[in-house]
Amino acid sequence: MSKITAAITAVGGYVPDFVLSNKVLETMVETNDEWITSRTGIKERRILKEEGKGTSFLAIKAAEDLIQKKGLDPKEIELVIVCTASPDMKAASTAAYTATQIGAVNAFSYDLEAACSSFLFGMSTAAAYIESGRYKKILLIGADKNSSFINYKDRATCIIFGDGAGAVLFEPNEDGLGLQDELLRSNGEGREFLQATYGGSSYPITKDTFEEGKHYVFQDGKTVFKNAVFNMADVAEKIMDRNQLTNDDIAWLAAHQANKRIIDATANRINLEENKVMMNIQRYGNTTSATLPLLLFDYESQLKKGDKIIFAAFGGGFTWGSIYFKWAYNS
Ligand code: UT7
Repeated sequence: MSKITAAITAVGGYVPDFVLSNKVLETMVETNDEWITSRTGIKERRILKEEGKGTSFLAIKAAEDLIQKKGLDPKEIELVIVCTASPDMKAASTAAYTATQIGAVNAFSYDLEAACSSFLFGMSTAAAYIESGRYKKILLIGADKNSSFINYKDRATCIIFGDGAGAVLFEPNEDGLGLQDELLRSNGEGREFLQATYGGSSYPITKDTFEEGKHYVFQDGKTVFKNAVFNMADVAEKIMDRNQLTNDDIAWLAAHQANKRIIDATANRINLEENKVMMNIQRYGNTTSATLPLLLFDYESQLKKGDKIIFAAFGGGFTWGSIYFKWAYNS
């Protein structure tokens, strides 16, 4: 019997309608379109404005898009994983609500959190279940409503983040397609450089911390930037080396969309031409767990069966890694 690998067999995506452009940000904080574009590559991002709607709203929309396009019966889904750094609520699983709302009534479900690496790590988790033969249909969703904990008076963060969601279906493959290799890492010494300090279990929000805005995301951009450039490029290069891959072998780089300069640095390190680098940061900004599936959503029509893809991500924690993947279908 041939070895079972874990392939992606369908993709869905969703971004909210509301567009927050650099021009509008200019009226909110001291910044300008030229600075944001040249320093980050971002022109606009999407924001979920409707009151009472959280990350599950985005996740459900992305899942429904996939289900409809694939013609999938949601009752066949066995596991729903929602990768997110912005769950709807504390204590109640966002994935459980999402699974029920999309009609995945036979599935169990849970959230997976590793900041901007959540979806990458989720790919590893989903693939391991499939490779073991335990489950055959896993819906992996990356969704974040970052606008819920961004301070729109802090130009170090509000220019970067946006809201969105992407979903993929993992199924067994007997032709060797899907996840080939992974190199995943973390280092907790990085957490002081990117965090929302108050609102978690260490420091519950008080009236004073709320007034000081300490529940919002803080980042030391320069330190995060340096670590992202070094580590993302490092793991991408290492995973290519140990799989004897050259730049000619690679069809695509799908890198976490945090800053175009970080993505370019990673592409340069592995000598990849610009036309092989998936990029949509200009339209969505950094959607945290949603960047990788939203890349697949936007590029799906250009992907060909057998295409070799290098995934890479870096995020808070710190967390980072790279996955070598073979695409399984022509759309
Ligand atoms: O998803 C994973 C986590 N996040 C990331 O990977 C993000 C990593 N970091 C970054 O992308 C970048 O560090 C930022 C985009 C956040 C900042 O870019 P930078 O090139 O590191 O800028 P900087 O903080 O070093 O600031 C350079 C200058 C400063 O002015 P002076 O001191 O040189 O006069 C800042 O005050 O730019 C100024 N500045 C701004 N100007 C206009 C900082 N932010 C802004 C702004 N608009 N939004």
